[in-house]
Formats: sequence, structure tokens, C-alpha cells
Amino acid sequence: MWAELSTCLDLDAGVIVGAPVVRRHLSDLAGCFADRAAYAALRAGEDPLLYTVSGVEAADGAGDLHYGLGVLFPGRVGGEYFMTKGHLHARRDAAEVYIGLRGEGCMLLEDEATGESRMEPLGQGRVVYVPGHAAHRTINTGRVPLVYIGVYPADAGHDYGAIAAKNFRMVVVERDGKPAMVARDGLNIQQ
Ligand code: F6R
Ligand code: MN
Repeated sequence: MWAELSTCLDLDAGVIVGAPVVRRHLSDLAGCFADRAAYAALRAGEDPLLYTVSGVEAADGAGDLHYGLGVLFPGRVGGEYFMTKGHLHARRDAAEVYIGLRGEGCMLLEDEATGESRMEPLGQGRVVYVPGHAAHRTINTGRVPLVYIGVYPADAGHDYGAIAAKNFRMVVVERDGKPAMVARDGLNIQQ
């Protein structure tokens, strides 16, 4: 017997109707942003909501898929745009497809073995294929919420610790009014 096969997106509310919602605040991203002073200054305020993920995990068999609707709010910590924590999949070879529905942004990808990094556009009408073994983080480079769907194998799992331990090598910051990917090491700030 099949489980429920279709759901309804409420893009204005930023949810998949009836699905549980995870909320991530600035305090959940301690250590993620390069500019520690800017992070501390913003943390001293009201601990803003950075993003929500509404997830459907209806089927868990071999070959099944899960999916989630993400809403990432606009803002910056120093020069760095609001972003997700980022993770590798616990099953490292599990890939994922991200589909941009609203707003402007990008994904930062980093190959776990080589460190090769890419900034791929993810906004309304853009699709990003996240290969296996790639740490991935979503970044809102616009002025309105970035809304996207991620579809991934049910057994992918999430490993937040491995990338958090060393952090992504690259950061996406605003330079001359545009997003630019630059080396974390090369930033001229106290980290
Ligand atoms: C699932 C996936 C997305 C993220 C979401 C939030 O594998 O990649 O649904 O979970 O973009 O990002 P994280 O999980 O890094 O907080
Ligand atoms: Mn993922």
C-alpha cells in the first residue's frame, strides 16, 4: 500500500502543507560565519530566524526519496550572506537535486577529498545537481526569501560535524554589490 503520494506547497507560508518544519536561528550557526565580531554583534540582538525546512519523509525503503522545502531569509553577517549550516550526506555517495522556486541565491559546493569549490546559482528557475561527496550550503544573495526544494535519497542522512570541524574553505561575500566566492583564509578580518 502506497503512502500519501502528493503534497501541496504553500510558497507564501513557506511550507509543505502538513509537513513538520525545522527552524534554524543565528545561534544554531555558531562558528559558521567568518566574521566573529559581526556574528557576536548580531547574536547580542534577538537571534534572528535564518531559515526553515519543511520535510517529507514518507517512505524509507531502499530506493526511496525524501524532499524538503527550504526558505532562507535575506541578510548578512558582516559581508557574508545568510546561509544554511551546510553538510555532507552520511552516505557520502548520495547526490541531491536542488530546485529554485523563488528569490536569488547560490549553492556553495566543496568536494570532501580535493577541496574543489564551486558557487552555483540557485534562484527562481535554477536547478543545481549536488554530486555525492560534496559538502553543500545554500546562500541567499538577494533581498527576498530564497525558496527551494531539495530531493535526496531516503538513506542519505546528514553529517554536519565533518564540514563544521574544518568549515568550508570558501565564503560567499558581497563585493561591489555582487556575490563573490573568496577564500576564507584570505579574508582580512579577525576569525
Ligand atoms: C537535505 C538538504 C536540504 C537541507 C536544507 C537545510 O539533504 O540538503 O534539505 O537540509 O537546505 O540545510 P542544512 O541541513 O545544512 O541546515
Ligand atoms: Mn543535502
